[in-house]
Parts: sequence; structure tokens; C-alpha cells
Amino acid sequence: WWDHVTPAPKDPINSVTEAFLADPCPYKINLGVGAYRDDEGKPIVLQCVREAQAKIESSNFLESNSTAVSSKLVEESAKLVYGEDSDVIKEGRFAGVPALSGTGACHLFAELQRRLYPDSRIYLPDPTWSNHHNIWRDAHVAKKTFRYYHPDSKGLDFMALMDDIKNAPDGSFFLLHPCAHNPTGVDPSYEQWKEISSLFKVKNHFPFFDMAYQGFASGDLERDARAIRIFLEDGHLIGCAQSFAKNMGLYGHRVGCLSVLCDDKTQAVAIKSQLQQIARTMYGSPPIHGILLVSKILSDPDIKATWLKEVKVMATRVRRMRAALRDSLEKLGSSLDWQHITNQVGMFCFSGLTPDEVDRLAKEFHIYMTYDGRISMAGVTTKNVDYLANAIHEVTAS
Ligand code: LMR
Repeated sequence: WWDHVTPAPKDPINSVTEAFLADPCPYKINLGVGAYRDDEGKPIVLQCVREAQAKIESSNFLESNSTAVSSKLVEESAKLVYGEDSDVIKEGRFAGVPALSGTGACHLFAELQRRLYPDSRIYLPDPTWSNHHNIWRDAHVAKKTFRYYHPDSKGLDFMALMDDIKNAPDGSFFLLHPCAHNPTGVDPSYEQWKEISSLFKVKNHFPFFDMAYQGFASGDLERDARAIRIFLEDGHLIGCAQSFAKNMGLYGHRVGCLSVLCDDKTQAVAIKSQLQQIARTMYGSPPIHGILLVSKILSDPDIKATWLKEVKVMATRVRRMRAALRDSLEKLGSSLDWQHITNQVGMFCFSGLTPDEVDRLAKEFHIYMTYDGRISMAGVTTKNVDYLANAIHEVTAS
């Protein structure tokens, strides 16, 4: 039956974790996966999660994924991106379903896109999270990239981005990262988002936001939603994938939400039922424990306040590590410009390291990152930052 099968190519992010785990070196560093680590390099269980856990312990909901439980998650998640008092929520003009983290939410949307617009394509930023390509490929939606990142400035190529949005056929689907772009750490400014939104309006494009790192760009969840709020104010219908893997440290629970804005309630009912049907054949309903945790955190004012503080602490630690890494490289006398380490935001630094340099870092220094030179800044700590800077300096010094 399986003679003709060859192994699938390794995932560029998961394979970094595998290589890291296989390395016995005691001072190895994992800068691969974008998951938060504390200053000891350890994954953490947030206080808000512990508190929510204590409160859901008596829950009777573990047998099935009740509608009430799902609806709470969806409504609370929607408030995070569209705003506490948003009209779309009050008027029920959105279709929302729980999803298996950001990946699952993207996948549900990609499937919906193919069902409803079989001849459409998705425009993905160049570069983007590697899995976006796989998700839309497996949903059999044609893909095209739009220019986003400028390798020389290591910042946004705004002119090229606007050109590509303009030149795409009217009514195209675009995937946008509303904050903390993965892998580049490069976000448009407020004014640039306004221009992007206006152009989308002219072109009648559909914006699909992948919100995987809300809170990590600025430390403030509201501020990190401002790109979406601009589109909302401009009257766009939009889609949004949300993940609680990073900002609640719940990667293993796979909790997320997909929401799609609609013109009215009737449309919302129709879209929601389509999404539920897609989910039903893929996994029935999502596991309930993580949903209960997230719903509790978002709906209990005290626990939510704890969460907001913890997000700020995580984002601040990552930002401090950016400054420390840049500082250390500059002190070593590196002749290269490392400003982008602190200009970029969120969990990642798109370092500009070449695949050969990344390879040397792994082989000679036991430092692991993806081959595109993306550094997960969450893996940098007070203890390893100088060692990392030294190693980067070694492999980049000509
Ligand atoms: C990443 O880009 O490292 C994260 O989004 C984690 C993942 O699942 O790929």
C-alpha cells in the first residue's frame, strides 16, 4: 500500500526544535519556535491560567462542547479584536467559531474561501509564517505573494506593498498580520495602516488578519488591535484568526477563534453554519479544557486584569532582550548595523543572518533558529545574551 510514499519535507520550525532537543550540549539555545520563555529559558504557566484553572475545576462541562461554552469564547475573543463596545458584536454581525489555535482558524477560513470562492486566490506577505503557505495549499486555494519586507532596510517596503495591493485584481483576498509580523517583526505604522485600509476600500479587497501575537508588539492588547480597528472604522468586512497559544502561554491547548464579519445577522448565521460544518468533518468540536480556561480569563474581570499585566511583563522582557542583544553586538565592535533588532517588534527579530551563518551557529555554537535567520527573542535570556552576541559576531565578522 505505501511503497510509493516518500517522507514529507520537514517543517522549517518544528525541525529546529527537533535538532535542539537532539543536541546534548548543556548551554544550547533554542531560538526557533515563537513561544514565550522566561528569563531562565523556561516555559511558564501564567498566574491568570492558574487562577482560571482553580475556578473551572468544579465545571460540569467536560462531557461535550456545549454551545454556551463556545459562544462565550467567541464573544470574548471578538471583543479583544473588535473592541469591547463594538457594534458588530452588539448587532451580531459576525460569525465566530472556536478553532484549534491560529493554525486551525486559518485552516477553517482557507476551506471556507475555497467553498465560497473556488476561483479566488490568497495574497500572502513575502515573507510570512511558513505554515500559511501550507494551509492554503492544502485547502487548494491558489496563492500569490505581495511584497512586504525590504532586505536592505530590514523594514517595511511600503511603496512595493501598496503597488502590489493596487495591482491585484479587485476583490482579492489578502492575509495581513495585524501586529508583530511573523517572521520579520516589521509592522506598518498607524498612518500606513490607514493608507492600506483606504486602498483596500478602493480595490474592494477582503482583509484576513492572522492575530497570533496580540499584546507582544506593544505590551498592550488594545493598541495591538489598532490595525483591525482602522479597517473596522472604514467599514470593511474582515476575517480574523486569533490564537491564545502565545499571549496566554497555552500553546499545548490549541485554543483559538475564527471570526468573519458580515453585513447582517442573516449572513452571519449562514457563514457560521458553513464553518461549523467544515469543523465537524475535520475534528467534530475542539477540546473543551483550553476553551474553558480562556473564557474564564477573558470574562472574569480580576483574572483578566492579571492577564493584561502578565502580557505586559512578557512583552517587556522580550523588548529588554532586544536592547541587550543589540548593545552586546555593538560593544563587541561589530561593523554591521544592528538597529533593526530594536526597531522590529514582537517576538521575532529577522536578523539578516544567512543560511550558512545559521548553520554555523548550530554546528559551532549550539544555537538553533530557522534558516531564514529568524530569532525568537523569547529564547534570549540575561544569561545567554552575551554568548549569543559573541556567536553572531563570530559568524558575521568577515
Ligand atoms: C512560530 O512561528 O514559531 C509559531 O507560530 C509557532 C508555530 O506553530 O509555528
